[in-house]
Amino acid sequence: MHAAVGTTLTDERVVVTDGYSSVGLATARAIADQGGEVLITGRPDESPEELSSTREDTESGSLDRTRIDEQTLESTDEAAVKAFFDETEFDHLVCAGSARPTGGVTETDTETFRAIIDSVFWRSYYAAKHGVERLGKGSSVTFITGTTAERPAVQFAATGIGNAALETLMKYLAVETGPVRVNAVSPGRVDTIGLADDTRQTVARALPADRIGEPEDVADTVLFAVLNPHTTGTVIRVDGGDLLV
Ligand SMILES: NC(=O)c1ccc[n+]([C@@H]2O[C@H](COP(=O)([O-])OP(=O)(O)OC[C@H]3O[C@@H](n4cnc5c(N)ncnc54)[C@H](OP(=O)(O)O)[C@@H]3O)[C@@H](O)[C@H]2O)c1
Repeated sequence: MHAAVGTTLTDERVVVTDGYSSVGLATARAIADQGGEVLITGRPDESPEELSSTREDTESGSLDRTRIDEQTLESTDEAAVKAFFDETEFDHLVCAGSARPTGGVTETDTETFRAIIDSVFWRSYYAAKHGVERLGKGSSVTFITGTTAERPAVQFAATGIGNAALETLMKYLAVETGPVRVNAVSPGRVDTIGLADDTRQTVARALPADRIGEPEDVADTVLFAVLNPHTTGTVIRVDGGDLLV
């Protein structure tokens, strides 16, 4: 997949919310590699200095600090999210989100189930709602969701329901806020924790692509959604063919 000829992110500023994860960081790197400037927001549990060095050590590759900046933002706090966007200049928004397993529908208590759905949906909703108001023609919003929205995965019911809600939100926003483009990137199985080789092989064998997804695969797809001027209102899957088997 390639972005439209001639489109680059030179001099464009991209906010990546909930971006302190392997997927978020890979996305930040991909944007910086395209000449863009990135502002990662999220919830570091260490001081920013510690977080920078810790994450750089543990994630693959280092961050280009001349192009990638970071800011603490609790994305469940709507007032804080609104205040952040009121004072931030940017051209594109990527809502990286997060995913946590819970349990099956009947075996999980309602409060836990509700909390996961809330976490998956409202954090990206707040960012998109208050972020999109600052955007215009040539800009974009990209949600990262997941194939759990389309096919049940063991332990991921609440996350899947939250992701499905986000994909529906994406379609409404694409219509309401055009010409700002709004899309969702839907990964399948991604190795974000460095799985053991035998586990990776088992997962890979089950997929038509014969490999497990890497954070960089998701980042490439986000880049396409950000750069392609004719892509809006759609879910772009990057799942190695997972939904076909
Ligand atoms: N990993 C996969 O296999 C996979 C598969 C399909 C789709 N995806 C999608 O890819 C995206 C990224 O997944 P991931 O596994 O890399 O994410 P993740 O590790 O679960 O979380 C991403 C980041 O979000 C932060 N976060 C969580 N709650 C927050 C809050 N209230 N305020 C601010 N930051 C908060 C997390 O911080 P903390 O560490 O402090 O919680 C973490 O830094 C998600 O949208 C997920 O649905 C992932």
